[in-house]
Amino acid sequence: MGTKIIGTGSCLPKTVVTNDDLSRIMDTSDEWISSRTGIRERHLAKEETTASMSVEAAKRAMENAGVTADEIDLIIVGTVSADHVTPACACEVQAAVGADRAVAFDVNAACSGFMFALNIAHVYLQAGIYRTALILGAETLSKIMDWDDRSTCVLFGDGAGAAVVRAESISGLLSFDQGSDGTKGGVLACTNRTNNNPLVKTSRELEYVHMDGQEVYKFAVTAVPASLHKVIEAAGLTVEDIDYFALHQANIRIIQSVAKRLKVSEDKFPISLDHCGNISAASVPILLDEMNRKGMLKPGMKIALSGFGGGLTWASAVVEW
Ligand code: COA
Repeated sequence: MGTKIIGTGSCLPKTVVTNDDLSRIMDTSDEWISSRTGIRERHLAKEETTASMSVEAAKRAMENAGVTADEIDLIIVGTVSADHVTPACACEVQAAVGADRAVAFDVNAACSGFMFALNIAHVYLQAGIYRTALILGAETLSKIMDWDDRSTCVLFGDGAGAAVVRAESISGLLSFDQGSDGTKGGVLACTNRTNNNPLVKTSRELEYVHMDGQEVYKFAVTAVPASLHKVIEAAGLTVEDIDYFALHQANIRIIQSVAKRLKVSEDKFPISLDHCGNISAASVPILLDEMNRKGMLKPGMKIALSGFGGGLTWASAVVEW
């Protein structure tokens, strides 16, 4: 029994903000951003919310999979920017798509969120507990950015991506790996929660996303190749057998470095960060949906997926399309 990805969908906010647009509201330039990151523009939410984009992405994935709401047993959303503390974004998706039978919850694993959701769904499906799962990565990062910190805010965007996975008698997810290193949590953090307990007098200012970019870079270029080697070997494959590497879209330099370390042509690393920026948990499923809709994914192809980011966390998988 395999865990097969049978449909994908995505949704980006309507408003596109270019690097030049940003240079009109802060001291930055298209040259600085694009040469260091590969990012040219990103979509930022105005009227959209994490839930509204998730619902749209979910509907598109269900349509692509040919699956109806009553077939869905499980909904997991990877997100660090759900609209509310509760209800979970996954519960909002459940209500909006009418998946009444489903169990729904969010996971917080930052940029690895979609990959953690995929791996959790895989384990439920392989245990025979559920048959069909809707998994998402969705973020409205613009609302938790420090827009006075030009070294961080220019990197991120908003959006949602979804996939329908199903327990099938044909092979699908061949292997997975995931990990966390809580000792390095401060390298990429967002602590903007207020304490409303009357016994605790805090007047802490809200803190938004802050990041030690160079430490995150060093972490990514070592953790990602190691995790990819692990899953490729566990799948009984070699690096040469992989048709595409669909990586979290943080930075073109990280992707180039991973390609070099794996000794694989950069052509095998599709990119969406140029027009999306880094959308944390949503990056991998949006990229996968773009690849799917462009007709790049053929049955039997081997795709290596990898997410990495805050926590610190990382997760990879090899799937047979
Ligand atoms: N526009 C113009 N100048 C900027 C800028 C911006 N948006 N942001 C920072 N700078 C300036 C800095 O002030 C600094 O100026 P100084 O030398 O006069 O002090 C200079 O550019 C270099 O800053 P630095 O932070 O050292 O740049 P860097 O070469 O480390 O590049 C990143 C910064 C963020 C692009 C890089 O560290 C990176 O890609 N890290 C990985 C981040 C990531 O992908 N995170 C998400 C993972 S999930």
